[in-house]
Order: sequence, then structure tokens, then C-alpha cells
Amino acid sequence: MEIVAKQGKLKDSTIVTIRPMVKGDADALVKFFKSLPDDLLLFVRHNVRDESVVRIWAENLDYKRVFPLLATVENKIVADVTLHRVPFGWKRHLGKVRIVVSPEYQKLGLATLMLNEIVDLAAEFGLEKLWAEVPLDSRGAIAAFRNAGFSCKAVIEDLVKDKEGRNADILIMICDVAAHYDQ
Ligand SMILES: CC(C)(COP(=O)(O)OP(=O)(O)OC[C@H]1O[C@@H](n2cnc3c(N)ncnc32)[C@H](O)[C@@H]1OP(=O)(O)O)[C@@H](O)C(=O)NCCC(=O)NCCS
Repeated sequence: MEIVAKQGKLKDSTIVTIRPMVKGDADALVKFFKSLPDDLLLFVRHNVRDESVVRIWAENLDYKRVFPLLATVENKIVADVTLHRVPFGWKRHLGKVRIVVSPEYQKLGLATLMLNEIVDLAAEFGLEKLWAEVPLDSRGAIAAFRNAGFSCKAVIEDLVKDKEGRNADILIMICDVAAHYDQ
């Protein structure tokens, strides 16, 4: 698979570069995660404030398992989206998507841009469906995934914890990759 960087334009005319993460991104990614407020890290499954976690990812990149796509502005990472794949079994045709955008670059269309790229990549990988879990109260997340062709499939009440430890609801959103391209 050919790995290429693409340029995109945000609503405020900022030009971003969107490209797969490479080994040399470790330092910039450590900085990116350190810059994020605690509430944004709630959606990340690992302790990314521990820089060894990020460095181990960079050393062990395996695009067939996890495909990380970064957005950069003047070499600074401003968003990270990951496409997670399951190699065998009944979920082998699915990809799970997670995304986090730096607060200064939110509401500018960046998540929409990156999620559109992920849907293109999923089609290239031969994945049939993409799965995302978003907070039910996050208008921005729901809108960004919808813009990229995902639709709302289920709500699971009280499944996760917010930062105060209260139960919160999540929404499962799915993109039917083939149907998306037929439209
Ligand atoms: C959810 C998130 C990725 C959205 O990123 P973003 O770059 O701001 O998204 P976009 O700019 O593409 O927004 C999509 C739409 O939602 C709107 N929007 C974004 N944030 C919004 C908010 N807080 N309230 C209302 N609308 C919002 C945008 O204006 C845009 O509108 P449009 O469709 O008319 O153009 C970002 O807020 C984030 O990183 N949140 C924390 C992590 C998270 O929740 N991830 C999702 C679960 S994996």
C-alpha cells in the first residue's frame, strides 16, 4: 500500500497535512498528548501521559493491526485518528475508529476531514464496516462521524464513567463502507 501525505483546508483556511504516523513522530506525539486537557484523555484507552507508552507504539507500528493517521500544522500534531483491526474471527471485516482533535483546532472540520480519509482507507483495506463509540452528549463527535457517513445504531446507557466517576451513555455509530461508496 502506498502511504501518501495529503493537504486539507480547515474552515478558518488553516492548511493541515494528513498522513500516517511514522516512527519519527514519537516526540511530537508525546507533546500532543501532554497538551490535551484531562477530559479529552477520557476517550483514550492508554495512559498516554506516560511517554514510554507512546514511544512503544512508535517503535512497534503495524498498520495491519492499528493504522494511526495524524494531522499536523507546521510539524505540530493537532489530531490523531486510529483505525483498529481484528485479524481473525467474526470481526475480521470490521474496523474500530477513535479520534481526538486538539481543542484549538476543534469545530473547524478537522475531524470530518480525517474521518473521511479513514473511510477511504477502510475501503482500500477491504473492510466492510466501521464502528465508533461516541459519548451520547457530544454533538461535535456525532456530527463529525455523521459527516463521514456513519449512522447511529444503538445507545448503551450507563456503560462508561465520566471524569467525576458518574455513569454516562455511549452511542454506537456504524459506517457501511461499501454502501457509502455506492451512494
Ligand atoms: C469529537 C471531536 C473529534 C470533533 O472534532 P472537530 O474537529 O471539532 O469536528 P468537526 O469540526 O469536523 O465537527 C463536525 C461538526 O460538528 C460541529 N461541532 C464540533 N464540535 C461541536 C460542539 N462542541 N458543539 C456543537 N457542534 C460542534 C462542527 O462545527 C461541525 O459542524 P458541520 O457539520 O456543520 O461542519 C473533538 O471534539 C474531540 O476530539 N473530542 C474528544 C474526543 C472524542 O469525543 N472522540 C470521539 C469518540 S472516539
